[in-house]
Amino acid sequence: MDDLEKTVRVELGDRSYDILIGPGLIARAGAEIAGRLKGRRMAVITDEHVGARYLDALTASLAAEGISVFPLTLPAGERTKSFDPLIRCCDHVLEAKIERNDAVIALGGGVIGDLTGFAAGIVRRGTRFIQIPTSLLAQVDSSVGGKTGINSRHGKNLIGVFHQPDLVLADTDVLDTLPPREFRAGYAEVAKYGLIDKPDFFEWLEKSWRDVFAAGGPARIRAIAASCQAKADVVAQDEREAGLRALLNLGHTFGHALEAATGYDSARLVHGEGVSIGMVLAHQFSARMNLASPDLARRVEAHLRAVGLPVSMDEIPGGLPSAETLLEAIAQDKKVKGGKLTFILTRGLGQSFVADDVPPSEVLSFLREKLGG
Ligand code: NAD
Ligand code: GLY
Repeated sequence: MDDLEKTVRVELGDRSYDILIGPGLIARAGAEIAGRLKGRRMAVITDEHVGARYLDALTASLAAEGISVFPLTLPAGERTKSFDPLIRCCDHVLEAKIERNDAVIALGGGVIGDLTGFAAGIVRRGTRFIQIPTSLLAQVDSSVGGKTGINSRHGKNLIGVFHQPDLVLADTDVLDTLPPREFRAGYAEVAKYGLIDKPDFFEWLEKSWRDVFAAGGPARIRAIAASCQAKADVVAQDEREAGLRALLNLGHTFGHALEAATGYDSARLVHGEGVSIGMVLAHQFSARMNLASPDLARRVEAHLRAVGLPVSMDEIPGGLPSAETLLEAIAQDKKVKGGKLTFILTRGLGQSFVADDVPPSEVLSFLREKLGG
């Protein structure tokens, strides 16, 4: 094991699993998987960008352990999280004759991970599933915790199942080929863990983000491992989001509405960028509700802007719909209880909480102000 490698365990009883984080893990994937799973047939689902770079190396590593590989390469981008690609994945897994002891492997970012996990969750009422996340976002968030699914014309992630992976292999070397914009987008989810309940981590990021962005080295691996540990702790306590897990949605209520408003067009907005703008809005809205100071919102905005993330809605190219339309998307994304909305708000740095009594009228006037109307 490399000195830089870290392991985080997600404790879920007999469904517990390891997240291995470090360099060179794709080359070692065959050995890691063969040591844990009996099956010797694996469907690998990837996208065109990731497949072109890493599918051969993964196939060779699996073949060296006597594992037969059945690859499927899909178009890259958020629009792949939809019904037609889901059907292709399910058919592919069935045609490859993947049995219950075999596995379906997701090789890619969060789009491939969410889609593949959903297919694995529903084929034969649940097939083994391995995540090999290749984007920063997928390594720190989407590959961990078992939320899988696709988008609907009614909104983001509205169709899916909980289906935990058997293993997560986060090879940090592959981040070197991630486009800088996508690295920044993943960083929004890293910063999120600090803002939820780890003020010391956020302060460390404010000082050390350049080391996290620099290729290789311990700061990047430390940030990924700390993020996975934070998520694993929450998932172990609240796998199905009865309460605590909702905190992981900090920034997502606004962010998902913006993703829907931009038609899931990755050229205009990618998920992590929506989360960045959404976290700033959540802090500004908390200040407006007199829960936290406006200085905190400015501090969060300053940090996310420093790393190069968008921090306000007017940075999204191509114009946005009205405040009323955004509010409709928000109401669709998060259940409305007794006419009130649920948001993750904050009382201070790293003091986020679930507010389930937010009046829609307050959100509407806030959005109108922010949209300048
Ligand atoms: P993505 O999967 O679209 O990947 C971003 C882009 O980077 C794609 O073009 C991809 O081909 C490319 N890419 C990925 N790895 C690469 C690499 N190593 N080298 C070169 N290019 C690479 O997007 P994402 O940001 O990884 O994931 C976003 C998705 O994750 C959203 O759909 C979001 O809803 C979902 N998500 C899910 C959870 C969850 O708990 N399931 C949590 C957070 C986000
Ligand atoms: N990304 C939110 C969750 O996994 O619960």
